[in-house]
Amino acid sequence: MSILSLRDVRVSLDREIVHGVTFDLEPGGVVGIVGESGSGKTLTCRAALGILPEGFTVSGGSISLDGHDVASLSSKQWTALRGSTISAVFQDPASYLNPSLTIGSQIAEVAQVKLGLRRRALKARTLQLLDAVRLSSAVHGQYPHELSGGMLQRALIATAIAAEPKILIADEATTALDVTVQAEILDLLAELRESTGLALVVVSHDLAVVAQVCDEVLVMRAGEVVEQGPVEKILYRPDHEYTRLLIEEHESYGLERYLVTP
Ligand SMILES: Nc1ncnc2c1ncn2[C@@H]1O[C@H](COP(=O)(O)OP(=O)(O)OP(=O)(O)O)[C@@H](O)[C@H]1O
Ligand SMILES: [Mg+2]
Repeated sequence: MSILSLRDVRVSLDREIVHGVTFDLEPGGVVGIVGESGSGKTLTCRAALGILPEGFTVSGGSISLDGHDVASLSSKQWTALRGSTISAVFQDPASYLNPSLTIGSQIAEVAQVKLGLRRRALKARTLQLLDAVRLSSAVHGQYPHELSGGMLQRALIATAIAAEPKILIADEATTALDVTVQAEILDLLAELRESTGLALVVVSHDLAVVAQVCDEVLVMRAGEVVEQGPVEKILYRPDHEYTRLLIEEHESYGLERYLVTP
């Protein structure tokens, strides 16, 4: 059964901005969303997370999260699901971490609130999470300003997975990082998927990122899904001119190195 299922999801402000997104995410699956800036990728993710910006509504379609129709959830039920069922990491990890608290205490806070762990179990879980995101135990006592961008993103991923969610949304989570660090973070997400069955929604304007980790891709333009299907199909035999343009743009910096021969 799908862990996350969107059916013709529409998002509106005063007018409709996202014009119908449909996909199914299986446990351990990876769905990618690509498209130019302003195409509706983030609004789609925020709809699935129940955190649309002020004034925006899901104006059509339905979202099912771990068997719950989210339209029927109270805000209290939503809060309970967020973190423990569905979680997210965005670009600019520094802005999501508190500069005056150690990394360890911020990871521990999530595990404490969502899993109800106490002192010793909490410390053990925090160290285990640091290890899972390939950060040394020394990072436990460090502050955000002491870490590099890649380490901050790992720390943020650790907080995002602290409550053992079934789904992680990574919205441009590697965009601000240099190419090597970006590849390391993508490897890390792939590893977490392997080891824990975490399902991923990976949003990027970069087709190479999506080619590396996704099973299925949605290509969005101006709020419309212009094309969607298995990643090999979309990258090798795109039906839509817009997808071809995206691929051409990316060939200039090496999409082909991520492609496997079909
Ligand atoms: N808070 C907001 N207030 C008003 N309009 C918004 C807001 N957030 C998004 N929009 C509009 O909704 C549309 C889709 O935005 P969205 O953030 O989903 O795009 P995106 O595909 O994530 O783009 P990017 O690649 O730049 O992150 C855009 O045209 C944008 O102008
Ligand atoms: Mg966005």
